[in-house]
Amino acid sequence: MTSLELQALDSLLQEAKKAAEKSYSPYSGFKVGAALSLTNGKIVTGTNVENVSYGLTICAERAALVRAVSEYGPGIRIQAVAVANLNGAASPPCGACRQMLAEFADPDAPVVFPAADGMRTMSFEQILPLGFDMQLKKTEN
Ligand code: THU
Repeated sequence: MTSLELQALDSLLQEAKKAAEKSYSPYSGFKVGAALSLTNGKIVTGTNVENVSYGLTICAERAALVRAVSEYGPGIRIQAVAVANLNGAASPPCGACRQMLAEFADPDAPVVFPAADGMRTMSFEQILPLGFDMQLKKTEN
């Protein structure tokens, strides 16, 4: 990765951290932020939104994704993702978020996130090696 690419990932991470400050997480106290860099040059962020019916909680990554599609339409492509939390803990994207994000990202797009051993950057094909894919041609919409 070039130093420019590393710099871009670092500023994406700062956006993810900023988004985490908006977290609605009264049940877990775990504040997560995600930032998506889109191929159209835009950055879209999201944070986790919990609910008293715990299972309804929406993760930061998926919150960012639905914002991105809502704002820029179904043709968006994700070129990089950053995830952060304000709890000083590991927070790799959960399985559901990997599957959802992968639909809009190329296999080599980088994902930077806090892991148990520090910050890590991995590609989608590394974090989701056998994602569900029916190989159906998607309809244009
Ligand atoms: N969470 C995320 O925002 N992203 C993930 O990938 C996994 C977990 C949130 C959901 C919940 O509000 C809190 O972290 C604790 O699980």
